[in-house]
Amino acid sequence: VAEQDLAGRHVVVSAGGTREPLDPVRFLGNRSSGRQGVALAEAAAARGAQVSLVAANVSDGVLPVHPQITVVPVETALELRDAVRGAARDADAVVMAAAVADFRPVEAAGAKIKKRHTDTGPAEPEPIRLTTNPDILAELATDRPRPGQVVVGFAAETGDGDGDALTHGRAKARRKGADLLAVNEVGDSRGFGDVPNAVTVLDGAGEAVAQAAGTKAEVADALWTQVARRLPPAST
Ligand code: C5P
Repeated sequence: VAEQDLAGRHVVVSAGGTREPLDPVRFLGNRSSGRQGVALAEAAAARGAQVSLVAANVSDGVLPVHPQITVVPVETALELRDAVRGAARDADAVVMAAAVADFRPVEAAGAKIKKRHTDTGPAEPEPIRLTTNPDILAELATDRPRPGQVVVGFAAETGDGDGDALTHGRAKARRKGADLLAVNEVGDSRGFGDVPNAVTVLDGAGEAVAQAAGTKAEVADALWTQVARRLPPAST
């Protein structure tokens, strides 16, 4: 049995990836399965928390069935924002593990978009116009629904000409204003060996406070340990 250091706490976890509709049958999406978010929800429940799992298109068979986990299904970034904000009102911690689309189509067509034809063949397609989605994590961090709430983000980073993955992660940690940012060094196994998942946990100032490598369950546990440390004493 895990240490019950989250007993009496309510935590919100977002998981999966949003789908932004183009028409009734098509969307812009991403490949997130939701497994890290589900591992976070399960780990929190095992440590005694009540969990609201806001699940955006989590893959079949991945969603947990657990008496302490309430699943709130959503599809789009705007739905995810509403669900997370609703659940966050009385939450001790919010962990944003979902892959939220940065952009959505300006409008979703009411009927299936059809291929148009001219005398000489198919017509040129209409361009897809996009607009920016809100940054839900940054919003939560600046406008905390509850004092003392711990707000956590995830970021997958790669090194490039402007710096290595951690340098990008540090800048993001400071920009987002969250208390913790779990930085996943994508395609970089330096120091970790060949493990399924390796993250460096940064605080809001961009300082590394923990490293975790291993399964998604192990990464989840390492993150909750950092969250639990930052929670104000439980009200009784
Ligand atoms: O900026 P980037 O997308 O890399 O940041 C990732 C973190 O921000 C994740 O925690 C993700 O859930 C969150 N995010 C968000 N709203 C967005 C984009 C990302 O909450 N529109």
